Amino acid sequence: AAHFNIRYSLFNIHYSKKNCNPNSYENDIIYPVSGIVCKCTDFRCHIKFITFAGYINILIKLKMNLVKVKDKEFQLSISYKKISQAVQNMAERINEDLKGQNPLFICVLNGSFIFAADLLKKINLDCGISFIKLASYQGTSSSGDVKTLIGLDGDIRNRLIVILEDIVDTGNTIETLINQLKSYGPKDIKIATLLFKPNAYNKDIAIDYIALEVPNDFLIGYGLDYDGMGRNFENIYTLVKH
Ligand code: IMP
Ligand code: MG
Repeated sequence: AAHFNIRYSLFNIHYSKKNCNPNSYENDIIYPVSGIVCKCTDFRCHIKFITFAGYINILIKLKMNLVKVKDKEFQLSISYKKISQAVQNMAERINEDLKGQNPLFICVLNGSFIFAADLLKKINLDCGISFIKLASYQGTSSSGDVKTLIGLDGDIRNRLIVILEDIVDTGNTIETLINQLKSYGPKDIKIATLLFKPNAYNKDIAIDYIALEVPNDFLIGYGLDYDGMGRNFENIYTLVKH
């Protein structure tokens, strides 16, 4: 079971199987189509011949699973059903682990708004919920972007904080966040992220709760954006590299 990244043209359909975690990625995006004669090697499958019916069938399925955002195409990779299950599992773990600790959940805007809403509906603890944002502004030095935390209202001193993130990629964002939050004197800081890219992560900070691990591809939907677009998609889509 693996995710297929599909390229297609009229009579030459090319599947390339990507190296990804089959447990975290949606399986079988494209189903076998009648009339295809194909030659498969381990990681590639070149379709040599396809019937007209088979071709139409593939086009219909591709159309169902592809979205276009601005200049780029994205392929369905994690369905809402699968996301929901993973979020449910995370909520159950948090409910168990943090019982009686009155945590303060901090949703990191913008990307985590959908994840946070879905997760928090399933949390049955006494808890607080707050929202922050990391705002970038151009520093005067040549060091470039400086990120500063905005929106933290109320006292977090001696509170158990649970940061809710949409995705942890290199870990730069989470590191900046934790360093800034620490200066307010919380009791402890835990991290809960919807998505985690283990192959991109280069920090030592442990991620306490991960709903889904994903490969190093660019994803949109369920809060994640491409250039401001796509956050409203129910499913998660991955960039199709042409
Ligand atoms: P990091 O600082 O490299 O860990 O990246 C974290 C931030 O980069 C996330 O909060 C997102 O805003 C953004 N990001 C990382 N990967 C993706 C992606 O695949 N799609 C959309 N945004 C992403
Ligand atoms: Mg984010």
